[in-house]
Amino acid sequence: MADQQTYNYKVVRQFSIMTLVWAIVGMTVGVLIAAQLAWPALNFDIPWLTFGRLRPLHTNAVIFGFGGSALFATSYYVVQRTCHVRLLSDTLAAATFWGWQLIIVLAALTLPLGLTQSKEYAELIWPIDVLITVVWVIYALVFFGTIMKRRVRHIYVANWFFGAYIITVAILHIFNSAAVPTSFLHSYSAYAGVQDAMVQWWYGHNAVGFFLTAGFLGMMYYFVPKQANRPVYSYRLSVVHFWALIFTYIWAGPHHLHYTALPDWTQSLGMIMSLILLAPSWGGMINGIMTLSGAWEKLRTDPVLRLLIVSISFYGMSTFEGPMMAIKTVNALSHYTDWTIGHVHSGALGWVALVSMGSMYYLIPRLFNRELYSLKLVEAHFWTATIGIVLYISSMWVAGIMQGLMWRATNGDGTLTYSFVESVQAMHPYYIVRFMGGVFFLLGSIVMAWNIWKTIAGAKPATATIPAPAAAH
Ligand code: HEM
Ligand code: HEM
Repeated sequence: MADQQTYNYKVVRQFSIMTLVWAIVGMTVGVLIAAQLAWPALNFDIPWLTFGRLRPLHTNAVIFGFGGSALFATSYYVVQRTCHVRLLSDTLAAATFWGWQLIIVLAALTLPLGLTQSKEYAELIWPIDVLITVVWVIYALVFFGTIMKRRVRHIYVANWFFGAYIITVAILHIFNSAAVPTSFLHSYSAYAGVQDAMVQWWYGHNAVGFFLTAGFLGMMYYFVPKQANRPVYSYRLSVVHFWALIFTYIWAGPHHLHYTALPDWTQSLGMIMSLILLAPSWGGMINGIMTLSGAWEKLRTDPVLRLLIVSISFYGMSTFEGPMMAIKTVNALSHYTDWTIGHVHSGALGWVALVSMGSMYYLIPRLFNRELYSLKLVEAHFWTATIGIVLYISSMWVAGIMQGLMWRATNGDGTLTYSFVESVQAMHPYYIVRFMGGVFFLLGSIVMAWNIWKTIAGAKPATATIPAPAAAH
């Protein structure tokens, strides 16, 4: 097909396949650590199988392996199609693919061995950090180089979100990973004390804002209109959404450090910026969902569109919950509890995973010039995933609020009503429900992988799945 020669689809195909591979690996580890929390014997007394080492393996595999591969795949696809031009360089694009996979494999080797910098979402040791920097700079070159040589004057809004995510992640990674090496495997952070904490959560929160949000909004702005076959509800709103979101996100990091040694005014600033963040987040959510106006009936027949729209609803939910949790008095209850874990996974499973999977259902058949093997299986995936998310997040909300209330309960004479271990005991049933939720979500992903495998391997070529470039945005 002409498109297959005009555009570099090879690298998009490679990243798309790895998206599914890392989804299953990362979520399998997620299910294992969820099981360990319910049944600690599953740590097996083997150091590299313990919860403490597998937890960062889970977060790295799902965020950077699964989420990262989905972002590479979709940004490379969208930038080519919306700029009507091939990627700047096939060789550099291939270098990002192999480089990124190597990084995730190195993460999977070093983290179970206990090699870590102990910074959340930035655990990898300094030589891997250097490799990340190199790969990311090449990524920026390929992406912006492609934009520079575009054949269409206008830069479609999805590319603005992808561009902001690429630039911001580069800056965050370089500053937060600044360290003084003491050996090949060990280093000390360049910052000390509360500054170290502040830089870490400036990074951590914007990893959420730019890695787990802005990039996926880029996905939303391309794949939702495509799948719905409708233009974006309001293009003007999408531009306002972009500038408001990136301006506000960058200030909100201190909400992770309420009631710490961080100066109080910094905490309050973080809280206020988090509250303001509700507005651009919901503006974007409304823009995404309203793109369906006039085509609501498609939700009944198109499970791929349903995955995408439900993901945007979860985006709305977690960006309502986040600002609430950023209020100091609410955070006094929620911090350190499973409520945070529930919030994380309503964003991670509900938003990040579903929008990626919905986009992959659109993308992969087109990349391989095949018809999707089974819509019924997508339907099955949709329901297992949704049941999984509901079990996961509702159990964590109940568990989290219960923990918070138990920890702060006092008797008339001022002593604590519950010992810590009693709160741990009280969590047991909820941890079992969360584990079941994880199993459901993982099952849905396996169904998806099977469906995609049959699609690619199948001999059912698509009739005309890829529109001519002129019809694309
Ligand atoms: C307006 C948007 C959002 C705001 C204001 C917000 C706010 C917050 C707050 C206050 C916490 C708890 C901090 C603590 O007590 O330690 C938190 C944790 C977290 N949120 Fe959000 N959130 C938002 C959206 C999201 C979304 C969409 C995602 C995921 C895709 C997400 C992922 C996370 C993660 C991973 C953590 C845990 C960080 C950690 O302690 O490891 N958030 N967020
Ligand atoms: C089958 C699906 C999944 C299961 C069973 C699962 C399970 C878990 C468990 C048990 C934890 C540790 C909680 C704790 O320390 O108390 C965790 C943490 C985390 N997971 Fe997942 N997870 C899944 C999918 C995902 C996905 C798809 C993402 C991201 C796209 C994700 C992102 C995270 C993050 C960011 C944390 C750290 C949260 C924090 O520190 O506050 N998870 N997960």
